[in-house]
Formats: sequence, structure tokens, C-alpha cells
Amino acid sequence: MDAEQSRTPLFDTVLKHAKKRMVSFHTPGHKNGRSIDKRFLKFAGRNIFYMDVTVFSEVDSLHDPTHCIREAQRLAARAYEADRAYFLINGSTVGNQAMILTACNTFDEIILPRNTHKSIIGGIILAGATPRYIQPIIDRNNNIVYNVSPQQVEDAIQRYPKAKAVIITNPTYHGISTNLEGIAEVVHKYDKILLVDEAHGPHFKFSDRLPKSAIDAGADMCVQSTHKILSGMSQGSLLLIKGKRVDAMRVKRVVSVLQTTSPSYIILASIDLARMQMATRGEEILDKLIDMCDAGRRQINRIEHIACLRQEDLLPGFQLDPTKITVMLGQSGLSGYEVSRLFNEKYNLQVDYEDLYNIIAISGVGTSKQDINQLVFALQDICAKYAKRKVIKPLPPLSFATEMVVNPMQALEKGMKRVSINKAVGMISAQILSPYPPGIPVLIPGERITREVCDYLQELVKMGIRVSGQEGHKLQTLKVVKES
Ligand SMILES: Cc1ncc(COP(=O)(O)O)c(C=O)c1O
Repeated sequence: MDAEQSRTPLFDTVLKHAKKRMVSFHTPGHKNGRSIDKRFLKFAGRNIFYMDVTVFSEVDSLHDPTHCIREAQRLAARAYEADRAYFLINGSTVGNQAMILTACNTFDEIILPRNTHKSIIGGIILAGATPRYIQPIIDRNNNIVYNVSPQQVEDAIQRYPKAKAVIITNPTYHGISTNLEGIAEVVHKYDKILLVDEAHGPHFKFSDRLPKSAIDAGADMCVQSTHKILSGMSQGSLLLIKGKRVDAMRVKRVVSVLQTTSPSYIILASIDLARMQMATRGEEILDKLIDMCDAGRRQINRIEHIACLRQEDLLPGFQLDPTKITVMLGQSGLSGYEVSRLFNEKYNLQVDYEDLYNIIAISGVGTSKQDINQLVFALQDICAKYAKRKVIKPLPPLSFATEMVVNPMQALEKGMKRVSINKAVGMISAQILSPYPPGIPVLIPGERITREVCDYLQELVKMGIRVSGQEGHKLQTLKVVKES
């Protein structure tokens, strides 16, 4: 073990300052928690508010770090064997935006799978870049969207040879990793930049039982949500850079433009601690976690009507992150929405994701054996008490054949109006609409709205499916470009 990795320079500095109990004429205005609402104080205690400091020389500056933040970022880069690391306090959302704004100028083309997180579309809008989509593989039996393969990436590069960069989400929300090394080889063969949204893979580096981490696989830049699986506080993320393909000075400038000037030191300190925890004890912690999840999966697979997604179920070339427990409810007649509601109301249990056919229970380094037992028990009880004979009707297939008329930034610049779904055919979308399942956007700003898409959306509404991006209770109108 690298002895340096047990250090936590940023956390130590913040703690040392908090212990001084200084009289503050600095922001924030709650003055070490004194004015905080009593209910909050009673629950959280006062100490956390002494740590809620802002930028001054003792605790360093996120935008121009010279000591403890700089040191904490250096240790993070070293832990992931990257050249540089930036601490982010607006999640991987800001990291995705920063990666795209670094790699692309206005109208530059960028290749990406269509099942991308909306923060990537946000980055493309901010950069004014032109997206070129790859359709991911869909497992229609299990209603799960896969990742894209190196061959698909190569085909896309040959089709769009001027593209500046490729951005891959790895792993996907279901924890499916692709052959990222193969993709890196292809992308670099054509002298393009490989960006990876590794929001769900901050743990990969620390266990041989997990897929390869993005930097190890050859990514030029990647972003990870330290708060998703590791012990970071919500919004804590890392941006990592390796090699010379990306302009490190531009990354620094872009990150500085995008991030707040009043970062939360609680979030920053938690990133420092999470890195230390993984770099010093990650292998052992993840070993236990994976064993627990494997045992849970085996128990769930003994329950009649439902099944967990396993490595053996995947197509060749893809690898499953075993810390994600995807339960396919297929034969139970229950939807993910129903199971999730029952979990909340009757079993005091929450899952990260539900759709018509599946739920995803995301474990993390804080998950206990008891938590897994509670999940297994809840599923056993629900299947025994609520399973129905009628299997849920399959969704109508959709081709996802879209035509981009203008790039997403231009679409938003033109202004928008609302029209009823029926009248939207032929117009240009001014919004992103992504139904779950399958979690692939059916519309992205700048795309022509087809009859097929309108029929599909109306069918989803009839089935009671909420579409991510819709406003209001029911999807009755679409936002379209004003003059379309
Ligand atoms: C694949 C993916 N990328 C990026 C993000 C954004 O991450 P964050 O919530 O840390 O901003 C998410 C969030 O769920 C995600 O699932």
C-alpha cells in the first residue's frame, strides 16, 4: 500500500479550523450553525456547521489551490493513477459538462451512445457541439439496455471522421461495462479523445473483481461520482485526466468557469476521506460488499417469478458490476413502480431505480448484510403476497430512427412553444424526453418529431409510465422549436 494514501490533508485542515471555534465575520451567514433552525440543529448537532466554511487562506481555494486542496487532489490522482484530479462539488453533472467543453468547440462533432445521462446532453448544449449517436444494444427479453461495443464505435468514427471526441458511459445504470480498453484502442487509432462518464464506477480501481477503471483502460479523461458508491457526500465527484491528448490548462479554466466560488468544504473533505478509505482498505471493503451482493442475488434467484441479472445473462464482451442488484420482475406480474411503492410503504426500504419491468438496488460501501437480508425478505414477502398471474404487457418496439435538424444548442436558441402531442409530428423537439424503460431518450433537442415517436409516447402515457423530462402529471404536450 502507498503509505501516502492514509493522509487526508483537506479533511484535517477543515477539522483543525472547525475546532478553533472562531468568531466568524465571514460567510456563511448561519455563523457556525447559531442561527440554524432548532429542528435541524437538534437532529444534526452543531459540529457539522463549524465545518461548513468557505474559501480563506487557511482552508485553501478550490479555484486556485496551493496547499491542502492541491495536496488532496494530487493524492486522488495518484490513487487512480491519473495525471491530475479535480474535486467537483456539483456532481458528475459538472464533470460531464467540463469534459465536453474541454474537448469540443461550437459545431464540433462528438460521438456518443444514445443512452446517455442528461448531463452529457447539457454539456453538448453548453459547448454548442453536434452529437452523433450510436444506438446501444438492447436486451429485449430482459428489457435492459446494454452499452456499445468497440466495433460500433469504430463504425461511428468511420461515418463521422471529423468527430473530435467519443464519450462513453461506463458502466451503464444497470452496471454493465463494455470493453473499454478495446474502445480506447479504436478511439486513439483515429486520433480522437476518449471521455468516459464513469459516474457509477468510482470503485472499479480498487478491486480485481470489478471491471477495469476508465483511466486504466486508456481514457483521456473521466468523471466519477464519489458520492454514488463510495463514502463521498452527495454532489462530491472527481474529474481525472491522463496523458497529453487533452489540454490540461483548458480543463482547469473550464472547471473554474463551471464551479461555484463558494464550494462546500463538507463535500470537499468527504471526497478526500472517501479516496483515503478506498486507497487504504478498498480491496477488503469491496470484497465483503461483492460477497454480500452475490449471496443476496443467489437468495433472490430462489424466489419464484423474479430473477437477478447475472454475469452469465450478459452478451459476450460485457461485464457486470456485482455491486448493482438488478431485479427483473418479469413473471411476477408486478411492475418496478409497484414494487418500489411497496418497499417504501411497507418495508421501509428504498431502491435507486424502478421501471416497468425492473428495479435496481444500488449497494455502496456503507451497505450491511442486514440491509441485503431486508431486501431479500421484502422481495420474498411481496412475491408471496402480491404476485399476479397476468404478466406485464411488453412495450411497443421503437426504432429510435431520428433525424437531427439543428444541433441541440441551436434548437434552444430558436425559442420554444408547447403543442399537443398530436400536433407535434414534423416539428423540431426543444426538449429531452427519456422514458424508463428503456432509459434511452426518444427525443433530444434539435430532432424531428416523428409519428412513430408520438404514438410511442402516447402508448406509454396509457400504460401509466412517467417519462423523464415530462412536465406535469401527464405527458400531453411537447416543447418544440418555435418556428418549426
Ligand atoms: C450515468 C450518469 N452520469 C452522470 C450522472 C450525474 O451525476 P451526479 O448526480 O453526480 O451529478 C448520473 C446521475 O445519476 C448518471 O447516472
